[in-house]
Amino acid sequence: MLRALCAIIVLVSCVAPAALTELYLSDYYTYEGVMDYLDRLAKEYPTRVLVKDAGRTYERRMLKTVTITNGEWLPGKRMIFMDAALHAREWMTPMAALYAIHELVVNFEQNSDLLQNFNWIVLPLGNPDGYEFSRNSDRWWRNNRTPNGGECYGTNLNRNFDVAWGQGYAELADPCSESYAGSEAFSEAEARLVRDTMHELVDNGSGVMYLSLHTANRSIFYPWVHDSTPTSNHHEMQEIARYAAKKIYAKTSTVIKTKQAFYYGGVMGGTSVDYAFKVGFPLSFVFEMSGLAYGVEYKFFPPQTEIRRLAAESWVGIRALAEKAVEKYPPGRIIPRVPRVTASSKAPSSRAYNIQVGLLSTLLAYVAQHLVG
Ligand SMILES: *[C@@H]1O[C@H](CO)[C@@H](O)[C@H](O)[C@H]1NC(C)=O
Ligand SMILES: *[C@@H]1O[C@H](CO)[C@@H](O)[C@H](O)[C@H]1NC(C)=O
Ligand SMILES: [Zn+2]
Repeated sequence: MLRALCAIIVLVSCVAPAALTELYLSDYYTYEGVMDYLDRLAKEYPTRVLVKDAGRTYERRMLKTVTITNGEWLPGKRMIFMDAALHAREWMTPMAALYAIHELVVNFEQNSDLLQNFNWIVLPLGNPDGYEFSRNSDRWWRNNRTPNGGECYGTNLNRNFDVAWGQGYAELADPCSESYAGSEAFSEAEARLVRDTMHELVDNGSGVMYLSLHTANRSIFYPWVHDSTPTSNHHEMQEIARYAAKKIYAKTSTVIKTKQAFYYGGVMGGTSVDYAFKVGFPLSFVFEMSGLAYGVEYKFFPPQTEIRRLAAESWVGIRALAEKAVEKYPPGRIIPRVPRVTASSKAPSSRAYNIQVGLLSTLLAYVAQHLVG
Protein backbone atom coordinates (compact mmCIF):
# COMPACT_ATOMS: atom_id res chain seq x y z
CA MET A 1 0.00 0.00 0.00
CA LEU A 2 2.66 2.44 1.15
CA ARG A 3 4.91 1.26 -1.62
CA ALA A 4 2.22 1.81 -4.22
CA LEU A 5 1.60 5.29 -2.85
CA CYS A 6 5.32 6.07 -3.08
CA ALA A 7 5.43 4.79 -6.60
CA ILE A 8 2.53 7.03 -7.54
CA ILE A 9 4.18 10.04 -5.95
CA VAL A 10 7.44 9.35 -7.73
CA LEU A 11 5.60 8.80 -10.99
CA VAL A 12 3.65 12.02 -10.70
CA SER A 13 6.63 14.10 -9.70
CA CYS A 14 8.73 12.74 -12.54
CA VAL A 15 6.16 12.60 -15.27
CA ALA A 16 4.34 15.87 -14.74
CA PRO A 17 7.20 18.26 -15.50
CA ALA A 18 8.60 16.00 -18.20
CA ALA A 19 5.31 16.12 -20.06
CA LEU A 20 5.34 19.90 -20.11
CA THR A 21 8.88 20.09 -21.37
CA GLU A 22 9.04 16.90 -23.41
CA LEU A 23 10.78 17.55 -26.70
CA TYR A 24 8.84 15.95 -29.54
CA LEU A 25 11.23 15.01 -32.28
CA SER A 26 8.80 13.28 -34.60
CA ASP A 27 8.26 16.36 -36.75
CA TYR A 28 9.75 19.80 -37.40
CA TYR A 29 8.48 22.45 -35.02
CA THR A 30 6.51 25.42 -36.26
CA TYR A 31 7.44 28.95 -35.18
CA GLU A 32 4.59 28.79 -32.66
CA GLY A 33 5.82 25.42 -31.46
CA VAL A 34 9.31 26.76 -30.77
CA MET A 35 7.99 29.82 -28.91
CA ASP A 36 5.62 27.65 -26.91
CA TYR A 37 8.37 25.19 -25.98
CA LEU A 38 10.58 27.99 -24.65
CA ASP A 39 7.72 29.38 -22.56
CA ARG A 40 7.02 25.96 -21.07
CA LEU A 41 10.68 25.59 -20.10
CA ALA A 42 10.74 29.01 -18.46
CA LYS A 43 7.63 28.12 -16.52
CA GLU A 44 8.91 24.74 -15.42
CA TYR A 45 12.47 25.81 -14.61
CA PRO A 46 12.22 29.43 -13.48
CA THR A 47 15.41 29.26 -11.45
CA ARG A 48 17.56 28.14 -14.37
CA VAL A 49 15.89 29.52 -17.49
CA LEU A 50 15.20 33.06 -18.58
CA VAL A 51 13.26 33.54 -21.80
CA LYS A 52 13.45 36.98 -23.30
CA ASP A 53 11.28 38.40 -26.05
CA ALA A 54 14.26 40.19 -27.51
CA GLY A 55 13.01 41.64 -30.77
CA ARG A 56 10.56 41.67 -33.66
CA THR A 57 10.95 40.67 -37.27
CA TYR A 58 9.61 42.55 -40.28
CA GLU A 59 6.41 40.49 -40.10
CA ARG A 60 6.22 41.11 -36.35
CA ARG A 61 7.20 37.65 -35.20
CA MET A 62 9.06 37.34 -31.92
CA LEU A 63 12.77 36.71 -31.63
CA LYS A 64 13.13 34.87 -28.35
CA THR A 65 16.39 34.16 -26.62
CA VAL A 66 16.84 31.78 -23.73
CA THR A 67 19.49 32.24 -21.08
CA ILE A 68 20.43 29.04 -19.28
CA THR A 69 22.30 28.78 -15.99
CA ASN A 70 22.82 26.19 -13.29
CA GLY A 71 20.58 28.25 -11.02
CA GLU A 72 23.30 30.27 -9.36
CA TRP A 73 23.14 33.34 -11.62
CA LEU A 74 26.57 34.27 -10.29
CA PRO A 75 27.97 37.52 -11.59
CA GLY A 76 31.06 37.27 -13.73
CA LYS A 77 30.22 33.98 -15.40
CA ARG A 78 31.40 33.43 -18.95
CA MET A 79 29.05 32.95 -21.86
CA ILE A 80 28.43 30.73 -24.83
CA PHE A 81 26.13 32.29 -27.42
CA MET A 82 24.48 29.99 -29.95
CA ASP A 83 22.04 30.81 -32.73
CA ALA A 84 20.18 28.72 -35.27
CA ALA A 85 18.14 29.07 -38.45
CA LEU A 86 19.51 32.38 -39.67
CA HIS A 87 18.97 30.56 -42.96
CA ALA A 88 15.29 29.75 -43.28
CA ARG A 89 15.41 26.41 -45.08
CA GLU A 90 17.87 24.78 -42.70
CA TRP A 91 15.08 23.04 -40.84
CA MET A 92 17.24 20.83 -38.67
CA THR A 93 18.97 23.74 -36.99
CA PRO A 94 16.15 24.93 -34.70
CA MET A 95 15.56 21.29 -33.80
CA ALA A 96 19.23 20.88 -32.86
CA ALA A 97 19.09 24.11 -30.85
CA LEU A 98 16.00 22.91 -28.96
CA TYR A 99 17.70 19.58 -28.37
CA ALA A 100 20.73 21.38 -26.90
CA ILE A 101 18.48 23.56 -24.74
CA HIS A 102 16.65 20.45 -23.54
CA GLU A 103 19.95 18.79 -22.67
CA LEU A 104 21.17 21.81 -20.71
CA VAL A 105 17.92 22.37 -18.85
CA VAL A 106 15.98 19.12 -18.50
CA ASN A 107 18.99 16.77 -18.56
CA PHE A 108 20.90 19.25 -16.47
CA GLU A 109 22.61 16.63 -14.26
CA GLN A 110 24.43 15.00 -17.17
CA ASN A 111 25.56 18.38 -18.48
CA SER A 112 26.21 20.41 -15.35
CA ASP A 113 29.92 20.63 -16.26
CA LEU A 114 28.91 22.92 -19.14
CA LEU A 115 27.14 25.26 -16.71
CA GLN A 116 29.62 25.37 -13.86
CA ASN A 117 31.62 28.40 -15.00
CA PHE A 118 29.55 29.28 -18.03
CA ASN A 119 26.02 30.37 -18.86
CA TRP A 120 24.46 29.98 -22.29
CA ILE A 121 22.34 32.27 -24.43
CA VAL A 122 20.53 30.56 -27.29
CA LEU A 123 18.51 32.05 -30.13
CA PRO A 124 16.89 28.88 -31.49
CA LEU A 125 14.99 30.50 -34.34
CA GLY A 126 16.91 33.44 -35.78
CA ASN A 127 14.77 33.94 -38.90
CA PRO A 128 11.16 33.04 -38.08
CA ASP A 129 9.63 34.93 -41.05
CA GLY A 130 11.81 33.05 -43.49
CA TYR A 131 11.31 29.78 -41.65
CA GLU A 132 7.53 29.98 -41.85
CA PHE A 133 7.74 30.99 -45.51
CA SER A 134 9.98 28.00 -46.17
CA ARG A 135 7.56 25.69 -44.34
CA ASN A 136 4.42 27.01 -45.99
CA SER A 137 5.24 28.49 -49.39
CA ASP A 138 8.68 27.87 -50.82
CA ARG A 139 10.69 25.24 -49.05
CA TRP A 140 14.06 26.35 -50.55
CA TRP A 141 13.63 29.89 -49.19
CA ARG A 142 16.80 31.06 -47.44
CA ASN A 143 16.46 34.73 -46.51
CA ASN A 144 14.18 36.74 -44.27
CA ARG A 145 11.10 38.44 -45.74
CA THR A 146 11.84 42.16 -45.82
CA PRO A 147 10.60 43.64 -49.12
CA ASN A 148 13.41 44.89 -51.34
CA GLY A 149 11.18 46.78 -53.76
CA GLY A 150 9.57 45.34 -56.87
CA GLU A 151 8.98 41.62 -56.77
CA CYS A 152 11.96 40.81 -54.61
CA TYR A 153 12.01 39.92 -50.97
CA GLY A 154 14.46 38.99 -48.30
CA THR A 155 18.00 39.54 -47.09
CA ASN A 156 20.50 36.81 -46.42
CA LEU A 157 21.01 37.43 -42.70
CA ASN A 158 24.39 35.74 -42.73
CA ARG A 159 25.68 38.37 -45.18
CA ASN A 160 24.19 41.35 -43.31
CA PHE A 161 26.87 41.79 -40.63
CA ASP A 162 29.29 44.69 -40.63
CA VAL A 163 32.48 42.89 -41.51
CA ALA A 164 33.70 43.18 -45.09
CA TRP A 165 30.03 43.78 -45.84
CA GLY A 166 29.11 43.27 -49.50
CA GLN A 167 32.52 41.88 -50.44
CA GLY A 168 32.93 38.62 -52.28
CA TYR A 169 30.64 38.18 -55.27
CA ALA A 170 28.11 40.04 -57.38
CA GLU A 171 24.91 38.42 -56.03
CA LEU A 172 25.45 40.08 -52.65
CA ALA A 173 24.24 43.31 -54.22
CA ASP A 174 21.28 41.74 -56.06
CA PRO A 175 17.99 42.30 -54.18
CA CYS A 176 16.47 39.34 -56.00
CA SER A 177 19.22 36.92 -55.02
CA GLU A 178 19.22 34.50 -52.10
CA SER A 179 22.67 35.93 -51.33
CA TYR A 180 21.46 39.54 -51.05
CA ALA A 181 23.44 41.21 -48.27
CA GLY A 182 20.80 43.87 -47.51
CA SER A 183 20.52 47.60 -48.23
CA GLU A 184 23.34 48.26 -45.76
CA ALA A 185 25.14 46.40 -42.98
CA PHE A 186 22.69 45.58 -40.20
CA SER A 187 19.68 46.68 -42.19
CA GLU A 188 17.85 43.65 -40.73
CA ALA A 189 16.34 43.34 -37.26
CA GLU A 190 17.38 39.70 -36.88
CA ALA A 191 21.05 40.48 -37.57
CA ARG A 192 20.88 43.48 -35.25
CA LEU A 193 19.60 41.29 -32.42
CA VAL A 194 22.50 38.88 -32.89
CA ARG A 195 24.87 41.86 -33.03
CA ASP A 196 23.44 43.47 -29.89
CA THR A 197 23.69 40.20 -27.98
CA MET A 198 27.32 39.82 -29.07
CA HIS A 199 28.10 43.40 -28.06
CA GLU A 200 26.47 42.95 -24.67
CA LEU A 201 28.52 39.85 -23.93
CA VAL A 202 31.78 41.37 -25.10
CA ASP A 203 31.20 44.69 -23.35
CA ASN A 204 30.56 43.03 -20.00
CA GLY A 205 33.53 40.74 -20.45
CA SER A 206 31.62 37.44 -20.54
CA GLY A 207 31.57 36.37 -24.20
CA VAL A 208 33.85 33.42 -24.99
CA MET A 209 32.28 31.30 -27.72
CA TYR A 210 29.86 32.11 -30.53
CA LEU A 211 28.34 29.16 -32.37
CA SER A 212 26.05 29.43 -35.37
CA LEU A 213 24.13 26.34 -36.49
CA HIS A 214 23.66 25.68 -40.20
CA THR A 215 23.09 22.71 -42.51
CA ALA A 216 24.10 20.69 -44.37
CA ASN A 217 27.77 20.83 -45.38
CA ARG A 218 29.05 18.46 -42.68
CA SER A 219 31.73 20.93 -41.59
CA ILE A 220 32.90 23.04 -38.71
CA PHE A 221 34.22 26.42 -39.83
CA TYR A 222 36.03 29.21 -38.03
CA PRO A 223 37.15 32.76 -39.03
CA TRP A 224 38.07 34.35 -41.22
CA VAL A 225 35.68 33.98 -44.14
CA HIS A 226 36.40 37.37 -45.65
CA ASP A 227 40.16 36.93 -45.61
CA SER A 228 42.61 34.07 -46.12
CA THR A 229 44.81 35.27 -43.25
CA PRO A 230 44.70 32.93 -40.26
CA THR A 231 43.47 34.49 -37.01
CA SER A 232 45.79 34.99 -34.04
CA ASN A 233 44.40 31.86 -32.36
CA HIS A 234 43.86 29.81 -35.51
CA HIS A 235 45.44 26.74 -33.92
CA GLU A 236 43.22 26.89 -30.87
CA MET A 237 40.05 26.99 -32.97
CA GLN A 238 41.40 24.32 -35.29
CA GLU A 239 42.09 22.05 -32.33
CA ILE A 240 38.61 22.59 -30.87
CA ALA A 241 36.89 21.99 -34.21
CA ARG A 242 38.90 18.80 -34.77
CA TYR A 243 38.05 17.57 -31.30
CA ALA A 244 34.33 17.99 -32.00
CA ALA A 245 34.62 16.28 -35.39
CA LYS A 246 36.44 13.37 -33.79
CA LYS A 247 33.77 13.00 -31.12
CA ILE A 248 31.04 12.93 -33.74
CA TYR A 249 32.88 10.37 -35.84
CA ALA A 250 33.47 8.14 -32.83
CA LYS A 251 29.79 8.21 -31.93
CA THR A 252 28.04 8.15 -35.31
CA SER A 253 30.65 7.58 -38.06
CA THR A 254 29.62 10.85 -39.69
CA VAL A 255 32.63 12.63 -41.17
CA ILE A 256 32.73 16.34 -40.34
CA LYS A 257 35.36 18.45 -42.08
CA THR A 258 37.07 21.28 -40.24
CA LYS A 259 38.67 24.34 -41.75
CA GLN A 260 39.04 28.07 -41.78
CA ALA A 261 35.85 29.26 -43.43
CA PHE A 262 37.68 31.12 -46.20
CA TYR A 263 38.69 27.74 -47.63
CA TYR A 264 35.04 26.78 -48.05
CA GLY A 265 34.31 29.06 -50.95
CA GLY A 266 36.61 32.07 -50.94
CA VAL A 267 35.86 35.60 -49.74
CA MET A 268 32.43 36.01 -48.22
CA GLY A 269 31.65 39.28 -46.48
CA GLY A 270 29.05 40.05 -43.84
CA THR A 271 28.98 36.77 -41.92
CA SER A 272 28.12 36.42 -38.24
CA VAL A 273 31.06 34.09 -37.58
CA ASP A 274 33.55 36.76 -38.68
CA TYR A 275 31.68 39.51 -36.89
CA ALA A 276 31.71 37.66 -33.55
CA PHE A 277 35.44 37.18 -33.81
CA LYS A 278 35.99 40.75 -34.95
CA VAL A 279 34.18 42.24 -31.95
CA GLY A 280 35.95 40.07 -29.42
CA PHE A 281 34.70 36.48 -29.07
CA PRO A 282 37.96 34.52 -28.95
CA LEU A 283 36.12 31.44 -30.25
CA SER A 284 33.70 31.58 -33.15
CA PHE A 285 32.31 28.66 -35.15
CA VAL A 286 29.81 27.67 -37.78
CA PHE A 287 28.61 24.12 -37.35
CA GLU A 288 27.21 22.87 -40.65
CA MET A 289 25.31 19.83 -39.49
CA SER A 290 24.76 16.69 -41.53
CA GLY A 291 21.77 16.21 -43.81
CA LEU A 292 22.62 12.58 -44.54
CA ALA A 293 20.22 9.75 -43.84
CA TYR A 294 20.45 6.15 -45.05
CA GLY A 295 23.43 7.25 -47.11
CA VAL A 296 21.20 9.70 -49.00
CA GLU A 297 22.04 13.40 -49.02
CA TYR A 298 18.78 15.07 -47.96
CA LYS A 299 20.55 18.38 -47.36
CA PHE A 300 18.05 20.77 -45.73
CA PHE A 301 15.06 18.49 -45.38
CA PRO A 302 15.84 15.12 -43.84
CA PRO A 303 12.77 12.92 -43.34
CA GLN A 304 10.96 13.38 -40.02
CA THR A 305 12.02 9.94 -38.85
CA GLU A 306 15.64 11.14 -38.87
CA ILE A 307 15.16 14.30 -36.79
CA ARG A 308 15.92 12.64 -33.48
CA ARG A 309 19.09 10.95 -34.69
CA LEU A 310 20.46 14.05 -36.41
CA ALA A 311 19.64 16.31 -33.46
CA ALA A 312 21.38 13.89 -31.12
CA GLU A 313 24.38 13.80 -33.45
CA SER A 314 24.49 17.60 -33.51
CA TRP A 315 24.44 17.65 -29.74
CA VAL A 316 27.57 15.49 -29.68
CA GLY A 317 29.30 18.21 -31.69
CA ILE A 318 27.84 21.15 -29.78
CA ARG A 319 28.72 19.53 -26.49
CA ALA A 320 32.28 18.80 -27.62
CA LEU A 321 32.83 22.41 -28.76
CA ALA A 322 31.50 23.65 -25.42
CA GLU A 323 33.62 21.19 -23.42
CA LYS A 324 36.73 22.56 -25.06
CA ALA A 325 35.65 26.19 -24.63
CA VAL A 326 35.11 25.53 -20.93
CA GLU A 327 38.46 23.77 -20.64
CA LYS A 328 40.42 26.42 -22.51
CA TYR A 329 38.81 29.48 -20.92
CA PRO A 330 38.70 28.78 -17.17
CA PRO A 331 37.75 31.70 -14.91
CA GLY A 332 41.41 32.59 -14.37
CA ARG A 333 42.31 33.00 -18.02
CA ILE A 334 42.18 36.59 -19.17
CA ILE A 335 40.36 36.94 -22.47
CA PRO A 336 42.33 39.10 -24.85
CA ARG A 337 39.96 41.72 -26.29
CA VAL A 338 40.47 44.05 -29.15
CA PRO A 339 38.98 47.45 -28.29
CA ARG A 340 35.82 47.66 -30.32
CA VAL A 341 35.08 50.60 -32.55
CA THR A 342 31.34 51.17 -32.77
CA ALA A 343 30.67 49.34 -35.97
CA SER A 344 27.83 51.22 -37.55
CA SER A 345 27.54 54.98 -37.41
CA LYS A 346 23.82 54.67 -38.04
CA ALA A 347 21.52 53.52 -35.26
CA PRO A 348 24.19 52.99 -32.65
CA SER A 349 22.44 50.76 -30.18
CA SER A 350 25.32 49.24 -28.29
CA ARG A 351 25.60 49.81 -24.61
CA ALA A 352 29.28 50.73 -24.84
CA TYR A 353 28.39 53.55 -27.18
CA ASN A 354 25.75 54.86 -24.81
CA ILE A 355 28.13 54.60 -21.89
CA GLN A 356 30.77 56.48 -23.86
CA VAL A 357 28.30 59.21 -24.77
CA GLY A 358 27.15 59.31 -21.15
CA LEU A 359 30.69 59.59 -19.81
CA LEU A 360 31.58 62.25 -22.33
CA SER A 361 28.62 64.44 -21.48
CA THR A 362 29.30 64.05 -17.75
CA LEU A 363 32.90 65.06 -18.35
CA LEU A 364 31.90 68.04 -20.46
CA ALA A 365 29.40 69.16 -17.83
CA TYR A 366 32.09 68.84 -15.15
CA VAL A 367 34.66 70.77 -17.18
CA ALA A 368 32.14 73.45 -18.09
CA GLN A 369 31.08 73.85 -14.48
CA HIS A 370 34.62 74.14 -13.14
CA LEU A 371 35.92 76.39 -15.86
CA VAL A 372 33.01 78.72 -15.48
CA GLY A 373 32.85 78.45 -11.70
C1 LIG B 1 26.56 40.00 -19.42
O1 LIG B 1 25.36 40.20 -20.12
C2 LIG B 1 24.52 39.05 -20.20
C3 LIG B 1 23.38 39.38 -21.12
O2 LIG B 1 22.63 40.44 -20.63
C4 LIG B 1 24.09 38.66 -18.81
O3 LIG B 1 23.25 37.53 -18.88
C5 LIG B 1 25.32 38.33 -18.00
O4 LIG B 1 24.98 38.02 -16.68
C6 LIG B 1 26.28 39.50 -18.02
N1 LIG B 1 27.55 39.09 -17.42
C7 LIG B 1 28.26 39.89 -16.64
C8 LIG B 1 29.58 39.36 -16.21
O5 LIG B 1 27.87 41.00 -16.30
C1 LIG C 1 30.39 21.59 -48.79
O1 LIG C 1 30.73 22.70 -49.61
C2 LIG C 1 31.79 22.48 -50.52
C3 LIG C 1 32.10 23.80 -51.22
O2 LIG C 1 30.97 24.32 -51.83
C4 LIG C 1 31.40 21.38 -51.50
O3 LIG C 1 32.45 21.09 -52.36
C5 LIG C 1 31.02 20.11 -50.71
O4 LIG C 1 30.54 19.12 -51.58
C6 LIG C 1 29.94 20.44 -49.68
N1 LIG C 1 29.65 19.25 -48.88
C7 LIG C 1 28.41 18.85 -48.64
C8 LIG C 1 28.24 17.65 -47.79
O5 LIG C 1 27.43 19.45 -49.03
ZN1 LIG D 1 23.27 28.30 -43.75
